Amino acid sequence: MREGLDDVVAVSTRLSHVDGEAGELTIAGYPVDDLAPHASVEEVAYLLLYGNLPEESERVRFSVDLAERRGIPTAVLDLLRAAAHDNAPPMDALRMAAAALALGRNGEPPDDALTAIASFPTIVGTYWRLRNGDEPVPVRYDLGHAAHYLHQLSGALPSAERTRALETYLITVCDHGLNASTFAARVIISTRSDVISAITGAVGALKGPLHGGAPGPALDMVLEIGASERAESVIRAKLDRGERLMGFGHRVYRVRDPRADVLAQAAERLYANDVDRSIYDLARSVEATALRLLREHKPDRRLDTNVEFYTALLLHGLGLPTELFTPTFAVGRVLGWSAHCLEQLREGRLIRPQSAYVGPTGLQYRNWGQPPITVATGALLEHPG
Ligand code: ACO
Repeated sequence: MREGLDDVVAVSTRLSHVDGEAGELTIAGYPVDDLAPHASVEEVAYLLLYGNLPEESERVRFSVDLAERRGIPTAVLDLLRAAAHDNAPPMDALRMAAAALALGRNGEPPDDALTAIASFPTIVGTYWRLRNGDEPVPVRYDLGHAAHYLHQLSGALPSAERTRALETYLITVCDHGLNASTFAARVIISTRSDVISAITGAVGALKGPLHGGAPGPALDMVLEIGASERAESVIRAKLDRGERLMGFGHRVYRVRDPRADVLAQAAERLYANDVDRSIYDLARSVEATALRLLREHKPDRRLDTNVEFYTALLLHGLGLPTELFTPTFAVGRVLGWSAHCLEQLREGRLIRPQSAYVGPTGLQYRNWGQPPITVATGALLEHPG
């Protein structure tokens, strides 16, 4: 039995390959460090959905199709207003809005997949503005996917540099083998459910701090440390208390997560040109101390930097607040979820593993003959005995 399913192969995929020993990530045939800094989100979405990069005419047609799906239905907007009124966390708002994308649609898988990819930036941007008491900005059809997301958030046109940094991030995290949220999506769609249900489940899985919820706490740790000379004492105290350092360790990688390098380089460029680089320098020094202390703390287990550490730094440099880190991850990962859903529908079987039963056996139920539990209006539930 493999508790947690380490090393268990559950599906075949052409979408991405994670080599945990070599520290390599291949996305539909391309090394992530080749694709992420140079391609557009639209090209990579096309690659994942159709298996090859688009020709120029295909790229233009696909980009227009995607852009035309950016608007969100009034019912989704109303839902986001209600969520903002309730001050719901952005990931909860995204999950609710993702589910509501099914309204008025007929559940055609490719149509749902494209609509989810196109709508996520609008949902997150709209929600963020509503929660801050601002009105949403109208959808723009003349911007690329990454620039449109930044525009939805701030209402301002982003610089080419910032757009490139975000685009690199979104591509870096677009797919990653059978990670927990993608697995959740594939399990759901493997029952021949619909793509929107699968993506909604995936958003729920991504939210957890052991998966996509880590970059906020990773940045919090850097900010808490505040100065390089405090790194050792703060990190040592965390490890002594049995805390996990967010942004370090990975189920599959036994070496440095290759996505961390792609994002570290993107962050380096962003901070060199655009943003105060003191936090970048601090983060590099915190990383070095964390790696040294993790080796001391767990000598038998290789714990290295994962994608979330530099996600935190890059998104912070883009001016995104920590609450938007995981939703922004979802804006990237929805490409992979969508493509996995279509692949599972085309080629997969029902995913239904087994469990090892470790509970008691042979017990006998002896309570028959007891009066039924009754609930009187206005009275508390009374349970006999
Ligand atoms: N800091 C301190 N100790 C750690 C860390 C860490 N970041 N990661 C693992 N360990 C320790 C565990 O405490 C455990 O110790 P124990 O055997 O004494 O109990 C041992 O290493 C093995 O840990 P597991 O949880 O079994 O390893 P697993 O492969 O399941 O963990 C995970 C992978 C969940 C990512 C883990 O490394 C972790 O919690 N990291 C911090 C959270 C994080 O950064 N998540 C983002 C991952 S990337 C992504 O999902 C996009």
